[in-house]
Amino acid sequence: MERIRIVKLLGMDPQAEPVLCKGWVRTVRDSKNLVFFEVNDGSCMKNLQVILDKDAHKNRKEQLSILENGASVSVSGRLVESPGKNQSVELHCQSVEVIGTANPESYPMQKKRHSFEYLREIAHLRPRTNTFGAVARVRNIMSRAVHRYFQDNGFIWVHTPIITTSDAEGAGEMFQVTTLDLENVAGKPDYSADFFGRSAYLTVSGQLNAEIYATSLDRVYSFGPTFRAENSNTSRHLAEFWMIEPEMAFCDIRDNMDHAEGFLKFVLASALREAREDMEFFDLRIQKGIIRQLQAVVESNFSRISYSEAIAELKKSSAQFEYPVSWGADLQSEHEKFLTEEVYKGPVIVTDYPRDIKAFYMKLNDDEKTVRAMDVLVPRLGEIIGGSQREERLELLQKRIEQNGLDAAHYWWYLDLRRYGTVPHSGFGLGFERLIQYVTGMQNIRDVIPFPRTPGSADF
Ligand code: 4AD
Ligand code: MG
Repeated sequence: MERIRIVKLLGMDPQAEPVLCKGWVRTVRDSKNLVFFEVNDGSCMKNLQVILDKDAHKNRKEQLSILENGASVSVSGRLVESPGKNQSVELHCQSVEVIGTANPESYPMQKKRHSFEYLREIAHLRPRTNTFGAVARVRNIMSRAVHRYFQDNGFIWVHTPIITTSDAEGAGEMFQVTTLDLENVAGKPDYSADFFGRSAYLTVSGQLNAEIYATSLDRVYSFGPTFRAENSNTSRHLAEFWMIEPEMAFCDIRDNMDHAEGFLKFVLASALREAREDMEFFDLRIQKGIIRQLQAVVESNFSRISYSEAIAELKKSSAQFEYPVSWGADLQSEHEKFLTEEVYKGPVIVTDYPRDIKAFYMKLNDDEKTVRAMDVLVPRLGEIIGGSQREERLELLQKRIEQNGLDAAHYWWYLDLRRYGTVPHSGFGLGFERLIQYVTGMQNIRDVIPFPRTPGSADF
């Protein structure tokens, strides 16, 4: 008999022929003559309800005694119409086999609701909960939507490197990669003897490499893991996160904003359409009204303001902020949330930030004080996308690299792109986990990635 996934079984009509499914037991309820148990196989949120007649399984008492929450099982039987209101069909069990037991004395996941903090400590078992199963499925749907958007719009996926020798953001937040024997280094390490013959790091962004391909292939994107050794223990920062970075030649900041907005709306609409059951769960259990909220965003036009206008708005308000508001200081997450939630009541794109708080590669405006940066801010989260038009003028880029205290020699190939056939070009980066937080309403970024890496924590 061929095994059928539960998502399919639950959509089938009652069957005369027996069907087979396999999965993990979520609940067991013993009544006088019957055992009711629910099986989940991760294919959807819903469980398959199984009903077993004890009389008919008299000679299988041993199997029944190990039918516990968490055990893996193979069950077959007849699919019949369910009188219950939660499901349309249920399984009248003809045979059950416990494949792997789960001792209830030690199984870390009891039937009660566990806190997300506790579940982080058992990240190897948490995908067996409704919430983490749903997060995993939504991540998958969103990854597919990301690729679909770019593939359908003529972008080429470029696999940018994970190991790098240049700091793409110039912020000095890179993890070092080395094979030097750190136990036995006396004094300053000799990196010429290191694996790559020089010091190497994990990438903080694929952008600079994506720019290489954008200045040959026009429209490209990267989608991969990035690493930041910033010591931010917040609900929005990870040391390892996934980033989507499109890069477009012949594209100015205005086109860039249009792309960012169109792309974000496309992936949000995909989640609402393709992850319905899971989204209903998030709406009910995690963030009330999120479906309606995201639907409104899909149908809205994002507000667009300059950094200077944002500062003026914040100054005008009577809200109490922890961090002072002044022109030249970066927007903190409390400011971003205020702008999106209180002032504009939806996503806001902020442009033209002060030069001195943004990365070296951003195009300098004529005022020489601001750069052509654009951040997309959303309610509940603040910054979800960071992007810019890039500095395509050789001399100005050289000057910015110097001003930022970076070594121009490390960026020789990046400068070559301005030396030979330079073009106006732009791009942005969307943090994939921030996107999943935004879509699911999950409060902590550690709960939207399977295996979070944060300061002091890299288990599993
Ligand atoms: O604003 P960021 O630093 O921009 C860049 O990395 C550019 N190279 C992007 C580009 O223009 N191609 O990061 C982009 C996004 C942020 O808006 C945020 O969503 C996410 O990446 N991000 C993080 N997500 C989780 N944990 C962190 N520590 C993050 N840092 C940035
Ligand atoms: Mg940023």
